[in-house]
Amino acid sequence: MAGELYQLIEDEDKESPAWLKAHRSQLARMWTFFLGALILSIVANLIQVSQYRKMKIKCAELRRSTKLTFQGNTEYSSANETRADGLWDDISTGIGAITLTKQFAESHGLLDASPFPWANNQGVYFVQGFHEMHCLKTIRKSLAQHTHNIPQSRSASHIAHCFDVLRQSILCAVNDTPMPVIAGRVTGDGQVMKCRNWKQLEEWVSEPERSACYRFVDEYREVPINGSLIERYAFCGNDSLYFDTMKRFFEMWGHQSLFG
Ligand SMILES: *[C@@H]1O[C@H](CO)[C@@H](O)[C@H](O)[C@H]1NC(C)=O
Ligand SMILES: *[C@@H]1O[C@H](CO)[C@@H](O)[C@H](O)[C@H]1NC(C)=O
Ligand SMILES: *[C@@H]1O[C@H](CO)[C@@H](O)[C@H](O)[C@H]1NC(C)=O
Repeated sequence: MAGELYQLIEDEDKESPAWLKAHRSQLARMWTFFLGALILSIVANLIQVSQYRKMKIKCAELRRSTKLTFQGNTEYSSANETRADGLWDDISTGIGAITLTKQFAESHGLLDASPFPWANNQGVYFVQGFHEMHCLKTIRKSLAQHTHNIPQSRSASHIAHCFDVLRQSILCAVNDTPMPVIAGRVTGDGQVMKCRNWKQLEEWVSEPERSACYRFVDEYREVPINGSLIERYAFCGNDSLYFDTMKRFFEMWGHQSLFG
């Protein structure tokens, strides 16, 4: 059937008048132009998408798949300060320091970073969520010290920097969830939110090939100019890819004080 049909059309073509042939070749030119434009557009789009991917720094690939209920107050704002302090102090922030290869950094649109002490061609990166949490903890501590007439242990410039970190993060994330205003309750109290999972990010940064073995040691204390910063990288677990290098370093050079 199909063969017969082809035959018919070819036959018809042979007997086509000149004007129809001209019309057909014009159509063919239009199609060629259209296809060319289409291919160009697809290629341009692909290039744009790949550039956008580079800009969009997705590392742990967290999704907003966790439902959390927003609460005006939790134990973290407990009137029992001992209780609240304990909970805040238990939030790990130093674990947010990770090491990435130069290739990974480049392919994800990240800037070059300071060299990781325990491996060649790898930089140190601090995952933003942990940096933000560190800043929040530091501001909170500083305020508590002020309230209790204790000298503030972090410098005013560090606190100013921390406020600025949080300001920029809020602007970047722009949380657009409308939070209900309910008389007699804290705004948003009880609203279910779709969130990324902090625990999942903790696991990601802690993976043995990625963790920079970093701890602040005391994140509420300023490191003096003669403090030995390498001590913050002294926390490789024995499952870490970098455990042996770290161990050899400290065996050879010994430990110095982080706080001078
Ligand atoms: C405050 O919290 C601490 C630690 O959870 C607890 O040991 C203490 O009994 C609490 N104090 C009061 C007055 O509830
Ligand atoms: C590795 O470290 C864990 C604790 O972090 C310890 O329980 C375990 O015995 C260690 N294993 C070796 C082989 O040293
Ligand atoms: C570091 O400097 C402080 C004074 O600024 C001094 O008291 C301390 O002994 C120094 N520590 C080291 C390890 O040199």
